[in-house]
Amino acid sequence: MDKKLIAPSLLAADFGNLQRDIEMVNLSKADWFHIDIMDGVFVPNISYGMPVLKAIAKHTTKPLDVHLMIIDPDRYIQTFADLGAAHLTVHYEACTHLHRTLQGIRAAGMKTGVALNPHTNINLLEDTINDIDIVLIMSVNPGFGGQSFIENTYGKIRALKELIDKRGAKTIIEIDGGVSTVNSKKLADAGADVLVAGSFVFKSDDPTRTIEELKESVDSGH
Ligand code: DX5
Ligand code: ZN
Repeated sequence: MDKKLIAPSLLAADFGNLQRDIEMVNLSKADWFHIDIMDGVFVPNISYGMPVLKAIAKHTTKPLDVHLMIIDPDRYIQTFADLGAAHLTVHYEACTHLHRTLQGIRAAGMKTGVALNPHTNINLLEDTINDIDIVLIMSVNPGFGGQSFIENTYGKIRALKELIDKRGAKTIIEIDGGVSTVNSKKLADAGADVLVAGSFVFKSDDPTRTIEELKESVDSGH
């Protein structure tokens, strides 16, 4: 994919002013809303659930990129489809029957996503890559925003790109965790298609401008 996408993570938004922060993203150069759902079991943290996502979806005008950090996600595939998710990303480590889960996501009309923890090897996706629209490489351990970027990520992106090409798949590569303009260009050059950014966007003085800076940093014209 030539065009690189930016997906602000609402986890770092001001939950007391969610509508304001959503409108900011709607009017910005961002491409997707990244939505982090945590269950306190697969990851140590609990973020927000269905009623909050329902409220969020009322205001968003861009695709909802839902990242499930929950065990046994099959239970909620239809629920997230009904809530308006465009993409549903499940964790490789949380699925006993990943192939079946991916079929379920497609059948519910969403794009399929698989997230890999930092310790999970790319090669484990060899037999499912043609069923995956988006591979999300975690560049921090999932559960919290504001953590430091793990440098090993660049090598994983290159390995994934190789696997995608070898299998003739159309999968795009998303990176999540510790993303900023310090690493965005290098990530795009390594083969990343979508960059998720939470703290870097929402904790900045001018989030609209920060999104624009991220976009410019990965624009191939620059
Ligand atoms: C972490 C989440 C991320 C998080 C990224 O488990 O998956 O989407 O919001 O936050 P930053 O950009 O602050 O690392
Ligand atoms: Zn995420």
